[in-house]
Amino acid sequence: MKIEGAERVQVRSKHFTSYQQEQIRKLKQQGKNVINLGRGNPDQETFPKIINRLKSAIDEVANQGYPPYGGKVTLKKAIIKFYDDEYGVKLTEDEVTIFSGSLAALTALPMSLVNPNDIVLTPNPAFFGYDSGIKMASASSYPLPLTKENNYLPEYDLIPNDVLEKAKLLFLNYPNNPTGAGATSDFFKRTVEFARKNNIVVAHDFAYSDISFKSKSPSFLQTDGAKEVGIEIYTLSKTFNMAGWRIAFAVGNKQIINLLKGYIRASVGGTFGAVQDAAIYALLNSQSERKELRNLYKSRRDLAYNLLKAAGFDVVDSEGTFFLWFKLPKRFSDDVSFVDSLLFEKQVALIPGSTFGKNGEGYLRLSLVSDLGYIEEGIRRLINFVNENG
Ligand SMILES: Cc1ncc(COP(=O)(O)O)c(C=O)c1O
Repeated sequence: MKIEGAERVQVRSKHFTSYQQEQIRKLKQQGKNVINLGRGNPDQETFPKIINRLKSAIDEVANQGYPPYGGKVTLKKAIIKFYDDEYGVKLTEDEVTIFSGSLAALTALPMSLVNPNDIVLTPNPAFFGYDSGIKMASASSYPLPLTKENNYLPEYDLIPNDVLEKAKLLFLNYPNNPTGAGATSDFFKRTVEFARKNNIVVAHDFAYSDISFKSKSPSFLQTDGAKEVGIEIYTLSKTFNMAGWRIAFAVGNKQIINLLKGYIRASVGGTFGAVQDAAIYALLNSQSERKELRNLYKSRRDLAYNLLKAAGFDVVDSEGTFFLWFKLPKRFSDDVSFVDSLLFEKQVALIPGSTFGKNGEGYLRLSLVSDLGYIEEGIRRLINFVNENG
């Protein structure tokens, strides 16, 4: 029997990454020393005291039963305190729901908010996670170009009226993967006005909230009126090196939160109580570790940025994230074949910009989830490759 899988669960950028991983595996098998600067998985360990809290939470009998599907009250209270301490944003318990990772929340949003043939506005280039739910909901996405000229922020004035009439949901993500760009409070203000005027729900993916280098990244919910039009999704994956734990939350408009809870009840059913207990601990007790982690990423970011810049690359002076986004040197025409040749000739893996969407064509993404020496060696090989092939 031939089983092909439904079109709606096939995801764009996965095709390239699985192809690249296979190539890397083969090169390693041949004994080649591969420098993988394509990865998006935090390389540091979860802060040890969070792990200790999980160990004790495992023994608690209350955690053996079904968890409340929107999250424990104790975790919601910790989130409310965290948002108040970090951003001065006041929340109530019905404005919070827990998710098993933000990817699940990103998929849940179109499934909960849009009907077939509705339109979802998505940044382009973007993280692959926005497309899945849109496809599953039989809706379509309308790309909002993120360009250097507009500081990698979407330009709402350029969206045609017929698109606005069908648009129900807008995804945003700052600090931005893949470009590293940041949002301003002023941009968020314009976003609230745009959403109100056109009746469009805003979902701000705040995955790299804590990895910001110049000033603290603003929360969308700090904007007047934001709660009326949208929500923010916060993951513990990056802030606390907890990517494998699958724990995140959504905060904001209570009607949207309620719809998302309905989706959780109909799908995964909740998040393991012991992981929620460890999340409470993480949110309330990790100030100094978070600062150290941010400094670590900053040292990597500064090293990589300075090396690329000195070698003449046109690289975004990133506000945050653990990625750098830079232009393919002029004499090369195609980002995918560039990345392929770089891997085979110099054994360095990068991600081609076009895997993040049409507006990523002609760009490359380099990640900073490895130590300084490894990153430096990767960039040195990249520079040699460009010099030898230019
Ligand atoms: C922009 C963005 N959003 C969301 C996620 C997913 O995070 P989580 O681990 O919470 O599913 C990632 C992960 O790489 C990301 O880059």
